[in-house]
Amino acid sequence: MIVIDGVTYTYHQAGSAALDGVSATIAPGTWTVIVGPNGSGKSTLARLLNGLLAPSSGRVTVDEMDTADESHAWDVRSRVGLVLQNPDNQIVGTVVEEDVAFGPENLGVPREELRLRVDAALAAVRLTGLERREPHLLSEGQKQRLAIAGALAMRPAYLVLDEPTAMLDAEGRTDVLAVLKELQTSGTAIVLITHDLAEAIHAERVMALNAGSVVYDGEPRALLADDALMQSLGLEAPPFARFVSVLEHVGFDLASARTADDVVEALWPS
Ligand SMILES: Nc1ncnc2c1ncn2[C@@H]1O[C@H](COP(=O)(O)OP(=O)(O)OP(=O)(O)O)[C@@H](O)[C@H]1O
Ligand SMILES: [Mg+2]
Repeated sequence: MIVIDGVTYTYHQAGSAALDGVSATIAPGTWTVIVGPNGSGKSTLARLLNGLLAPSSGRVTVDEMDTADESHAWDVRSRVGLVLQNPDNQIVGTVVEEDVAFGPENLGVPREELRLRVDAALAAVRLTGLERREPHLLSEGQKQRLAIAGALAMRPAYLVLDEPTAMLDAEGRTDVLAVLKELQTSGTAIVLITHDLAEAIHAERVMALNAGSVVYDGEPRALLADDALMQSLGLEAPPFARFVSVLEHVGFDLASARTADDVVEALWPS
């Protein structure tokens, strides 16, 4: 469990807080989507989750380890993988396999185990065969998946991804989301920061940040239905959600509809 307890974070002593009194928990194996306008504190929160930043006040614990305690730094970082907003900032190897090996190598993973982890991580993101490719020759989508592979090779219990699909086309997006779904199925908790609310409809839980505070934390439908809150967050309900809400308005019970097939079934029961 990751516990964020009354966390405030200020980048500069005098400046205003990037995060202000945030409390939340992330349970093992869950899927959480974080949304919020530019500058609302999403990336700051991501960095606090794996100890890259320590709270100015309040506490973050990862499986009961205080992230501000330097003696836990490695343990925390190996449990909480972080894929940064810009994958170029995360590339460290001169070829793909070196890049993926970098994290676990630093954790002291022995050679043979390292090979297994790198191969498994590359397979999971469908980059097998590109082991010797130079990372800068990869497409944007491949780079994004490489960054995810690097985090996966650490075998984290929690994986935090900061807008991993922002630079991808529709196909790349679907690909990355499919990889994440598989990971969650195998027990990894996913924390997905996104600007695309379509990625939130299927989440169990959405957290919305605004100006450094949590303004919503719960299932996606109540957020999507709250026009004033949506507007204050600069969010627009995705077409599917709008369609469902219109149908509900005229009397269809679509409370559990998540996919187009669910809607078809509700309109024309088989
Ligand atoms: N390195 C930094 N130094 C000083 N201020 C920063 C730094 N990084 C972020 N901030 C400020 O902290 C606040 C929160 O920024 P953060 O990057 O966490 O927001 P965000 O929600 O991730 O935004 P975006 O959607 O643009 O990625 C903003 O006011 C931002 O200007
Ligand atoms: Mg950000």
